[in-house]
Amino acid sequence: MSNANKKVALVTGSGRGMGRAIALRLSQEHITVVINDLNRDLAESTQELIRHSGGICSLNIGDASDEDFVNDMVEHSISEYGSIDILVNNAGVLRPTPLVDIPLAEWEFVIKGNLTSTFLCTKKVIPCMQKNGWGRIINFSSTAGKNISTVGGAHYTAAKAAILGLTRHTAKEVAEFGITVNALCPGLINTEMVRDTISDESVEKYADSFPIKRLGNPEEVSELVMFLASDKAAYITGASMDINGGDLMI
Ligand SMILES: NC(=O)c1ccc[n+]([C@@H]2O[C@H](COP(=O)([O-])OP(=O)(O)OC[C@H]3O[C@@H](n4cnc5c(N)ncnc54)[C@H](O)[C@@H]3O)[C@@H](O)[C@H]2O)c1
Repeated sequence: MSNANKKVALVTGSGRGMGRAIALRLSQEHITVVINDLNRDLAESTQELIRHSGGICSLNIGDASDEDFVNDMVEHSISEYGSIDILVNNAGVLRPTPLVDIPLAEWEFVIKGNLTSTFLCTKKVIPCMQKNGWGRIINFSSTAGKNISTVGGAHYTAAKAAILGLTRHTAKEVAEFGITVNALCPGLINTEMVRDTISDESVEKYADSFPIKRLGNPEEVSELVMFLASDKAAYITGASMDINGGDLMI
């Protein structure tokens, strides 16, 4: 990546799981990382790991689906570092509830945590990327967005499918400004989101059912994000990338 040491990336939900792995991977390329998470302890651990390896980062504790918080975080980061060049809309929440049992409040929570957060952060960073004539936006959909969720409910599937539509539409609107917008569709990745939702026994059963008989790991996903964030991926936009051990082939 040209001028990599001058790039700044906002990674939502980077306190643990894939978000943390992505923050660390970007930092290895001398990209300044704006860490965001709801959970202060988790976010501080990511901050410590980045600082320990000599990277530059800042901490923003708050809800990526809250418009006021997102606007403050982006404005503050731009005034501190000069720009946001890479946005990774990684924050997401999952609930395994069957559709007939989903209370409206839970439906809204899952849609907001996955889809609205992606919309708000994207909307806020685009003017800065337009000004720079360069930008990378990477959205977290899921295998759920193309098929149905392995462990989440219908609200999760609906939100992840909507993120694919949002990705394509945004990509078309901003392509002329040198901004690419792509979605990742991970299969079952070994993170707390999965471990907190299903038993170890179920995890093993799912793993055994995949052509590549294991879960993915966050570092593998972070490599794909790193590629999409680079100049090498300049001709890829509006795409959705599967990373699922062959769980879904369409
Ligand atoms: N793990 C999987 O198998 C899998 C598969 C496909 C897609 N995904 C998606 O990948 C992304 C990362 O998943 P993960 O497994 O690393 O999740 P995770 O639950 O392990 O970590 C998510 C982090 O995001 C934070 N977060 C949640 N909502 C937030 C919000 N509104 N604002 C700020 N921070 C918030 C959490 O505190 C947590 O630290 C999510 O969008 C998820 O839906 C996960």
